[in-house]
Amino acid sequence: MRKRAVLVTGANGEVGYGLIERFASMPGAQDMDIIALDLKKLDRKLRDKCSATIVGDILDKDLLQRLISEYEIHAVYHLAALLSTRAEFTPDTAHRVNVEGTLNLLRLAHEQAQWHGSPVAFIFPSSIAVYGLPSLTVKAEVGRVRAYQWNFPTTMYGCNKSYCEHLGRYFARHYRQLAADRGVTGVDFRAVRFPGLISAITMPSGGTSDYAAEMLHAAAKGEPYACFVSEGATIPFMVMPDAIKALVDLASAPAEKLTQRVYNVASFSRSAGQLRDRVVAAFPNAKITFEPDEPRAAIVDTWPAEVDDTPARKDWGWNPDYDADRAFTKYLVPQISKRYRK
Ligand code: SER
Repeated sequence: MRKRAVLVTGANGEVGYGLIERFASMPGAQDMDIIALDLKKLDRKLRDKCSATIVGDILDKDLLQRLISEYEIHAVYHLAALLSTRAEFTPDTAHRVNVEGTLNLLRLAHEQAQWHGSPVAFIFPSSIAVYGLPSLTVKAEVGRVRAYQWNFPTTMYGCNKSYCEHLGRYFARHYRQLAADRGVTGVDFRAVRFPGLISAITMPSGGTSDYAAEMLHAAAKGEPYACFVSEGATIPFMVMPDAIKALVDLASAPAEKLTQRVYNVASFSRSAGQLRDRVVAAFPNAKITFEPDEPRAAIVDTWPAEVDDTPARKDWGWNPDYDADRAFTKYLVPQISKRYRK
């Protein structure tokens, strides 16, 4: 008998790190194979928590077929992506990784479901980058943005995520709709749109919301930091434990409770200046300046200051553990201080 397996792509990234630790500590973890896939070798601390750690590319279809032959995959957490800043430098590659890679994994989920006859949960992190507000005036006027408002992304990454939300919905409901042998697709696609994520353990790379984590980690290390957006730039943020909680809670929600496949999740919105004040309160020697990089800062200006996450709260009980106060006092500051004290 093959064990039920969970496939995590982008396992070595920020979210993958927290997710694998979480899986390993969940009751029944020993009954589940965790397969970690990443372009880079998995961090040593995570390796013994996984049944298999594979260095490989989600664009390698032979590799994905080999996974199907070896494992019985019941859930895919598809985290691998090129984030918004990096994607702007290599838009073609970003499209291949973010869209074709996702398509490959959706096909894998469908194929797996056909083999073992039960649905495969496909958990996908989408992003506030799917929004595109035309100006700061509109951004100030619209307030909390709902899931289906202002979906005009201005970055390749945002376009990729937006399209993949549609692809996921298509694979869940309509894939092979004209085939003679059409049946259930077996792909149980569920997505959360993450705000900027901040982890005390890992550093983000290639994102445009990275300034929040960068200023905090720099302060904890005693290094100066020049922030690439202006003090007033405001977007929603979330700390990593809540991001992991959102993925795990959405994955375990009963299907009949879900009224949509893509959910906003929010915890707190802050301007870069407000984040700076928090960081300086915790690390009084911090040297944080603002030297906006106009094109990069302009991307942040197109993202909403706040998102409406009412459907997530109603349908699957989303409720973050950390507001801004708790995020800093109970998670970020103590954990980061510990990390750099060593
Ligand atoms: N954190 C991401 C980025 O900055 C947005 O989802 O690209």
